[in-house]
Amino acid sequence: MARGRKLRVLVLHGPNLNLLGEREPEVYGRMTLAQIDRELGARAAAAGAEVECFQSNIEGELVTRIQQAREKFDAIVINAASYSHTSVAIRDALQAVSVPAVEVHLSNVHRRAETETYRAQLLTAAACKGTIAGFGPRSYYLGLEAALQIAKEKS
Ligand code: DQA
Repeated sequence: MARGRKLRVLVLHGPNLNLLGEREPEVYGRMTLAQIDRELGARAAAAGAEVECFQSNIEGELVTRIQQAREKFDAIVINAASYSHTSVAIRDALQAVSVPAVEVHLSNVHRRAETETYRAQLLTAAACKGTIAGFGPRSYYLGLEAALQIAKEKS
C-alpha cells in the first residue's frame, strides 16, 4: 500500500511506559518516553518515513489502535509492556491485521524471566515478525529499522 508515498510506522507503548525516566531507572534507564518518541520521529524522517506514537495504560485502547492500523500503516513497532505477558486480546489483534509488527522491550525480558518467572511467557511476541529486547531505547530504534525494512520488502 506504500507505493508513491512515505512508509508509515505506528509505534505503540503499553502500560507504565509513560513513567519512563522516573520508573525503575536501573532497569529502564533515564530517557523519557517523549525523548524516545522524538528520536524515533527523527530517525523515521531521516529514512524518508513517518512514525505515529501512542501510549496507553488501557488494553482495549491498544487493541483499537492495532485494528485502526489497517490501511493506514505499513508496519507496527509495539512494546506492550506487561500486557506482552498476559494479553490474548492484543495478540489476537496483531494476528487479525495484515500489518507486520516488531515487538520491542527495553529490558532483557529473557534474563529477567530467570528470577521473575511471570515474564517468561510472551503472548504477543508470537504474533510479531520478531522481537528485540535488552538494548534500552535502542531496542525501539532497532525495531523501527526492522519494521521499515519489512515494510519496504512488502510494498
Ligand atoms: C518491558 C518489559 C516488561 O516485562 C515489563 O512489564 C514492562 C516493560 C520492557 O520494555 O522492558 O513494563 O516491556
